[in-house]
Amino acid sequence: MRQLKPNVFEVGAIDWDRRLFDELIPLPDGTTYNAYLIRGSEKTALIDTVDPSKTETLLGHLAAHGVDHLDYIISNHAEQDHSGSIPVMLESYPDARVVTNAKCKAMLLDHLHLDEDRFLVIEDGQTLSLGDKTLRFLITPWVHWPETMCTFLEEDGVLFSCDFFGSHLAGSELFVSDEGRVIKDAKRYYAEIMMPFRTAIVGNLKKVDGLEISMIAPSHGPVYDRPRLILDAYQSWVSAPPVNKAVLAYVSMHDSTRAMVEYLTEALIERDVVVERFDLTHGDIGELAMSLVDAATVILASPTVLVGPHPLAAYAATLVNVLRPKARWIGVVGSYGWAGKMVEQLQQILSGLKAEVLDPVVVKGLLREDDYQALDAMADTIAQKHKELKAD
Ligand code: FEO
Repeated sequence: MRQLKPNVFEVGAIDWDRRLFDELIPLPDGTTYNAYLIRGSEKTALIDTVDPSKTETLLGHLAAHGVDHLDYIISNHAEQDHSGSIPVMLESYPDARVVTNAKCKAMLLDHLHLDEDRFLVIEDGQTLSLGDKTLRFLITPWVHWPETMCTFLEEDGVLFSCDFFGSHLAGSELFVSDEGRVIKDAKRYYAEIMMPFRTAIVGNLKKVDGLEISMIAPSHGPVYDRPRLILDAYQSWVSAPPVNKAVLAYVSMHDSTRAMVEYLTEALIERDVVVERFDLTHGDIGELAMSLVDAATVILASPTVLVGPHPLAAYAATLVNVLRPKARWIGVVGSYGWAGKMVEQLQQILSGLKAEVLDPVVVKGLLREDDYQALDAMADTIAQKHKELKAD
């Protein structure tokens, strides 16, 4: 019995073996789709459902709890890993109504073709009584999609936050036990899902931080019975200035670009700049995303394929651009055989970032003396600029 509070239970599913989300995001530790059953003295509510692949698990857990009637299915987020079992739930529980905000209702209608009559639409701050338990709805947009919201169980102080504060971490323990491991997975999750919406998250953090929260129960990963752990981590990820760290993401065909990366790595270390490197041919893109959370500088290194960047470098640049990290400086280094527009094309892909663009370093064939000097100059610039961070 996975119990959070009296008459509050986790009834979702653990997906131990899933290794990719949205056909994009690696899940080295699997994931969970948490759903929560709340039995009030008068009404019974289910908070979120599970991925459609796990509908039977959810139904089984509800049956094991003897649930033969549901009044409300609260939908905090329309994405299918939480909403995808709603159609079956509405068939299985014919009196249940889907409770959500207007924007989420519209998205559920688009994605799931639910019956419009089965909805109860709520506004920001509205409450819903289950008898001795009260749900308060807080609209928190962009904690993944524009329609996302949190549900707060007032009497018990439990914040059901759906993707917000989540982590892709399959595990049998209901509550966080290994804080270091959970924060690492939550940081990866933040980097991949939340980082592009940092500004909106600052406001959402303020909104939930005013509540008397005893637990944060996300819909992925374990429940935080020490909510400050994840609230403080988010505060730092969204608001703290970047640190003295350069991320080097690279791919090399005939070792010219690799030689540049090796030299630049050493040059940065000599200048006391922390370096994190990602070989894009072997990398887990989630590791790269995590490094972007607090790095001050991002360098992409690529050879020239035909006239443009290596496709893996273009892919990494696209990800960096859409994830909107707080890096202040970006740069491109790389090599070519005869001609090309590798630098221009990578810089163009990265143009959505507000970062200052460093002078690129490009070599023809193998490095010559002046190329090493150019890399030294780039390392000097990065080290000098990072000193400005301390003065912030
Ligand atoms: Fe876990 Fe945005 O869905």
